[in-house]
Amino acid sequence: MSKVIVIVGGQWGDCGKGKIVDFLTEKADIIARYAGGNNAGHTVVVEDQTFKFHLIPSGIIHQDKLNIIGNGTVIDPDVLAKEIEQLESRNIQISDKNLNISTNAHIIQPKHVEEDTATGEKIGTTKRGIGPCYKDKIVRTGMRMSEFIKKDTSAAKKLKPLVKDTYLILNNALEQDKNLLIEGAQGTLLDIDHGTYPFVTSSNPTAGGACTGLGIGPTKINSVHAIMKAYITRVGAGPFPTELGTEEDTNKEDSYQDLRKELGEEGIKHLRRRVVTKANEDDSYNQGRWLRMNGMEYGTTTGRARRTGWFDLVGAHYAIKINGLDSIVITKLDVFTGLKKIKICTAYEFNGKKLTSYPTNTNILKNCSPVYEEHEGWTQDLTEITDFNELPQAAQNYIKRLEQLLKVPISIVSIGPKRSQTIIREDMFF
Ligand code: GDP
Ligand code: IMO
Ligand code: MG
Repeated sequence: MSKVIVIVGGQWGDCGKGKIVDFLTEKADIIARYAGGNNAGHTVVVEDQTFKFHLIPSGIIHQDKLNIIGNGTVIDPDVLAKEIEQLESRNIQISDKNLNISTNAHIIQPKHVEEDTATGEKIGTTKRGIGPCYKDKIVRTGMRMSEFIKKDTSAAKKLKPLVKDTYLILNNALEQDKNLLIEGAQGTLLDIDHGTYPFVTSSNPTAGGACTGLGIGPTKINSVHAIMKAYITRVGAGPFPTELGTEEDTNKEDSYQDLRKELGEEGIKHLRRRVVTKANEDDSYNQGRWLRMNGMEYGTTTGRARRTGWFDLVGAHYAIKINGLDSIVITKLDVFTGLKKIKICTAYEFNGKKLTSYPTNTNILKNCSPVYEEHEGWTQDLTEITDFNELPQAAQNYIKRLEQLLKVPISIVSIGPKRSQTIIREDMFF
């Protein structure tokens, strides 16, 4: 029997979907992206090599798998052609055997990027033309891949052999008992319908989008899993109840590359010591900055410093419902190392009342303050540990408490970017 597994982002993106999809790819035959475009940035670390994907599914590193970019995605052809070239320069040859693109995917045109650059500031978009392209799709004035490849351009010629009726390839594969791993981009709280509108992306990154974005029926899906960090981050504007420090202060910070240029390795070490000391004196901005610096929370796509905050259980319960989650993968647990106290937001307070379900009204969410439960932190490095029971007791307690509060199994705990830094607690996949 074939198995179809959907991986979604459970928060505001950048939770390690790429890492986990690469990790799960071994037992999959096909890996497919169903929504979004090159607003996504998925980083995969394999031994000493780092790959950054924007459009191509993270399964491409395993050379014998078929990767599909589905009809629900929006594609900037020049960006995709460049991504292919970069892979080829690293000895990953691309052909229709390992990469297929849907005839029906929409094309991001230069005018879309121009419009997004001119108007995206308020939302803090990635300025990649995503919203304007989806707008043209919805008003039926867009251009699809099938039309684009008739053009006489170098990108069109490069992509043409890869463009296929991917719905058919997927459905035939399922009849032939192949395993399908579906890679979400973005995250639940960025969903155009269910996210913190208008501070969202323009597609449905939630599990429902997997069916429309690939052309497979809901009855084919076996299970849905969300990736969530042990804390939470957000890039761009919008409400963020558990934010540590303020959006304004985070936006003032330099990218890591600029920091390194400015301060040098010694200067960074000194800054880290200062930040963690202040964090442990209960300074919330520095707690957030510690998560940012220790977790390298700087955008793959834009280099922007990501806003950081404590794990938001209210948002997580919302993601469980919207996606029908079977399990949750917790990533970046290692990033807490050094903090004496860690918090989980168990509810919100709004107008003196306790809220435990996620408000769909962004104006209410904006005025919610978090109710916290506090946990012991730890100082040990986690990144070499291979067994859950060898994690420091405080780290085990954090995960067990989270699982108890989530009421959904935590199937995997990730403690670093590499494949080997992945602890399976319950194998619920292929
Ligand atoms: P995605 O958009 O969900 O695929 O996530 P990103 O790739 O944008 O951001 C996640 C970042 O964290 C990447 O740089 C990963 O290499 C890294 N990463 C993934 N899992 C872990 C982990 O468990 N610990 C640490 N320290 N880094 C991780
Ligand atoms: P991955 O797949 C984090 C955010 C942008 C902005 C909002 C709208 O790497 O997790 P858009 O350019 O989509 O119109 O921007 O959505 N955003 C992401 N944030 N990770 C992503 O993708 C994102 N894709 C879009 O920062 O707030
Ligand atoms: Mg990302």
